[in-house]
Amino acid sequence: MDTLTIARPDDCHLHLRDGPALAAVLADTARRFARAVVMPNLRPPLTTVAAALAYGERIRAALPAGADFTPLLTLYLTEATTGEELRAAKAAGIVGVKLYPAGATTHSDAGVRRVEAIYPQLEVMQAIDLPLLVHGEVTDPAVDVFDREAVFIERHLAPVVERFALLRVVLEHITTREGVDFVLGARAGVAASITPQHLSMNRGALFEGGLRPHHYCLPVLKREEHREAVLAAAISGDAKFFLGTDSAPHPLRDKHSACGCAGIYSAHAGIELYAEAFEAAGALAKLEAFASHHGADFYRLPRNTGTLTLRRAPARVPDSLPFGDDVLVPLRAGGQVAWQVVD
Ligand code: DOR
Ligand code: ZN
Repeated sequence: MDTLTIARPDDCHLHLRDGPALAAVLADTARRFARAVVMPNLRPPLTTVAAALAYGERIRAALPAGADFTPLLTLYLTEATTGEELRAAKAAGIVGVKLYPAGATTHSDAGVRRVEAIYPQLEVMQAIDLPLLVHGEVTDPAVDVFDREAVFIERHLAPVVERFALLRVVLEHITTREGVDFVLGARAGVAASITPQHLSMNRGALFEGGLRPHHYCLPVLKREEHREAVLAAAISGDAKFFLGTDSAPHPLRDKHSACGCAGIYSAHAGIELYAEAFEAAGALAKLEAFASHHGADFYRLPRNTGTLTLRRAPARVPDSLPFGDDVLVPLRAGGQVAWQVVD
């Protein structure tokens, strides 16, 4: 099979940034995905419905002519978020509320310092059925960076999922066997998104022939056994797992720095990289449900009616892409991806 036609996919976890950066990256996503759940970690973070909706307008305004793409907006959760704001978010069609542990990642400083402090907000979200999207890593410096997802699940996520038994929860960008096992064993309404990098690379990729800043993201790549567990989940056909690229562009100068930013840009091959990984695992037939059905079903949105056709033919990835006043280094820069989008 050299071509594959699937229902147009949704990217259930995406960073689009703002201004010139947004203008530089949006077309890559809009070419492939019908919708994307867009993260709210801008500067300043999107902590109000008004700010989120205004951002949605800027995204729409930056779309290339003729593009068929709908941003699904999210709200940035803080310990000060009010019930009123959450109810307004639900009424405005905001699809989820993102929990960033303060200090866990890019632009997370306004995030949550103590998970128990947001229990009142979770109570409201449960009552109005507004999903919680979780960056699942502890920030405790005493916890090894490779263990931070597993420890977050044990210390914070398991208690939340038990206490708020009807709250819908997405554990974003899972990277570990513990993450997979937790979601598999959890009640209905608990799901996980999976990135292309965590399907296709292990932590060795951070040090391949030298330090590789463009393979650095958070949660950081893990051991091979974890990659295998995440891949098995993605190709399992289980509706709890769905596509979320976590494509997170940073200018080259912020990646090549003494304190390089976390984030991998993958939107330029946002479906092709998954096709490659699924094919390598002998599971191409499972791609459509993972990419185009499971996310929509979780978010209770209609499945997309259009289609996207991919062809198995190697495509070269540029060394860099324009990015405002700098450039961006995409995943696989200078290399190849085994699939292309043809229609
Ligand atoms: O690698 C990451 N980059 N992980 C995140 O959680 C945030 C993201 C970003 O916004 O750059
Ligand atoms: Zn992210």
